Amino acid sequence: MSTYKENHYRSLDDADAFWTEQAARIDWVKPFSNVCDFSTPPFAHWFVDGETNLCFNAIDRHLATRAHQNALVWVSSEVEQTRTYTYRQLWEEVNCFAAVLKSIGVGKGDRVLIYMPMIPEAVFAMLATVRIGAIHSVVFGGFAAASLAARIDDAKPRVMITADAGSRAGKIIPLKPLTDESISLAEHPPKHVVIVNRHLDKSMQTLPGRDMDYAALAPRHKGEVVPCEWVESSHPSYILYTSGTTGKPKGVQRDTGGYTVALASSMQTIFATQPGESFFCTSDIGWVVGHSYIVYGPLINGSTTVMYEGLPIRPDPGIWWKLVEQYGVVAMFSSPTAVRVLKKQDVGYLTKYDTSTLRYLYLAGEPLDQPTSDWIEKGVGVKVIDNYWQTETGWPILSAQPGIEETPRKLGSPSFPVYGYNVKLKHEETGAAVSANEKGVLCIVPPLPPGCMSTIWGDDARFVKTYFGMFRDEQVYTTFDWATRDADGYYFIMGRTDDVINVAGHRLGTREIEEAIQAHKNIAEVAVVGVADSLKGQVPIAFAVVKDHRQVENAELAARQEKEVMATVDHELGAIGRPARVHFVTALPKTRSGKLLRRVIQALCESRDPGDLTTIEDPTALEQVRNAVQ
Ligand code: PRX
Repeated sequence: MSTYKENHYRSLDDADAFWTEQAARIDWVKPFSNVCDFSTPPFAHWFVDGETNLCFNAIDRHLATRAHQNALVWVSSEVEQTRTYTYRQLWEEVNCFAAVLKSIGVGKGDRVLIYMPMIPEAVFAMLATVRIGAIHSVVFGGFAAASLAARIDDAKPRVMITADAGSRAGKIIPLKPLTDESISLAEHPPKHVVIVNRHLDKSMQTLPGRDMDYAALAPRHKGEVVPCEWVESSHPSYILYTSGTTGKPKGVQRDTGGYTVALASSMQTIFATQPGESFFCTSDIGWVVGHSYIVYGPLINGSTTVMYEGLPIRPDPGIWWKLVEQYGVVAMFSSPTAVRVLKKQDVGYLTKYDTSTLRYLYLAGEPLDQPTSDWIEKGVGVKVIDNYWQTETGWPILSAQPGIEETPRKLGSPSFPVYGYNVKLKHEETGAAVSANEKGVLCIVPPLPPGCMSTIWGDDARFVKTYFGMFRDEQVYTTFDWATRDADGYYFIMGRTDDVINVAGHRLGTREIEEAIQAHKNIAEVAVVGVADSLKGQVPIAFAVVKDHRQVENAELAARQEKEVMATVDHELGAIGRPARVHFVTALPKTRSGKLLRRVIQALCESRDPGDLTTIEDPTALEQVRNAVQ
């Protein structure tokens, strides 16, 4: 048994031997000839020539030993239903879905856009897509039509899979009308739309010829066996869009072999779970955490994955712990925001159920504050493991790794670099490695380990420029996060270096929100900043300059205009991007060269010292922001 330090050292010093061992955790139909081809940096090609299939590793290979074990347990407090699928039953469902996709012409390399609520069919659709060598792009159900259309035009899917509706706090959230609208906005619409009709939205309209009802198609393909399409390791398994500095989301492209190996390995080293045990991740399949740790990671590991549709406080705030008791969950994955939601409820719910099976609670996606971490750790009696990563990496960059070694935890720190990640904190300007407790930009010296993004879908140049172009002295991957490392080697994340904000653990670009606001006809100019919030971590606040000032000339009109702007964001981007406040001003703080001073605005909103203001063009703009937030 090695220590985490020895393991990390070996993963970099003797990478070929290390990753060859890790690769043995999954099944390959053809062995790889080279562990990593890094001949065209910064592109890394892991497990060259090796052939495998993600779905095979998640389901088929377990059939011999765990056909009758639960693979997927789905619980919905929204529709009050529970459904369980053994590995054998999941295999049957996925084969059927794969046969349906094939029957409508989906083949290797085709894209399938999945816009679904948290239902088992979403999991079948993802697994069926990779089974036949197609590439999925799951779009979070909270995104609106225009965002969806932008993703359609980038991924150019042959088929879209959706449902009539989702449900949130008992309220029906129709998805099909947004699907229709997105298709009418898109330049590259899909040929077909497969609809999983939950019969929640009785008014759903369909377009004959294009739209197909899964319930009508499935019986024709029941019992069919669709062989796995063996793909070379670097074959894309999926595209997942994420926000950055520009308004245009980036399609993070994931490979097959490297991702499967990284997840198989992390389930045991970081999440310390054995095959046959239950794993519960409270994320949504539309986010990277859901991809890796609701769907693929647990299934590759032979675990039982618990999938939950609903809020953590309905029917009461004990629902999560009830599921832990019921399914004997050993490891759970959630977000600090979700825990802060529970913190507002009766603490008695934390001990109402027997949660003694639970070994660790993993929290990620945003900074974890000490009071929240303490509260849940003591309340449930479970060790909290803060872990830090990104959509781009697909699995943790920094985390304690109790499957390798139990190390003491420090509150506020996601501990240490995970094996495979050559982490370096670089000085923002000089690029030099910073010393202990000094703030630097968290970078990864390439090659990025297996599982991380291979490129930006359709745009290699943007991949290189965006992620590897920050420093002149060295081509390193930039996370765009500030961090420090203390003398004991523990890392602390200090926030983003760019204009990305984190609302309730959801990553959003302020540019994206600004572009959505600009769709309102009376907006001339707008700046959006992320402002600290005790529940959601951050919330977006907008400062807008209007074209026609008469429409905001008194408080009543301004309030009406503010509501309209918020509704525009709901429509363009989705309610997750809705600003908490829209303030109307006549000028925005900018430098003389016209650059928006977002950091100054943000500081004023958070009652902090805005720092050096000598570059500001029009000081009255600053006064307006100050007055607005007071
Ligand atoms: O700023 C960091 C923050 O979330 C960003 C990545 O978000 P996303 O792509 O949605 O992936 C989430 C995967 C868990 C990071 O650049 N972040 C993530 N984890 C942490 C964090 N900030 C502080 N502490 C964390 N543990």
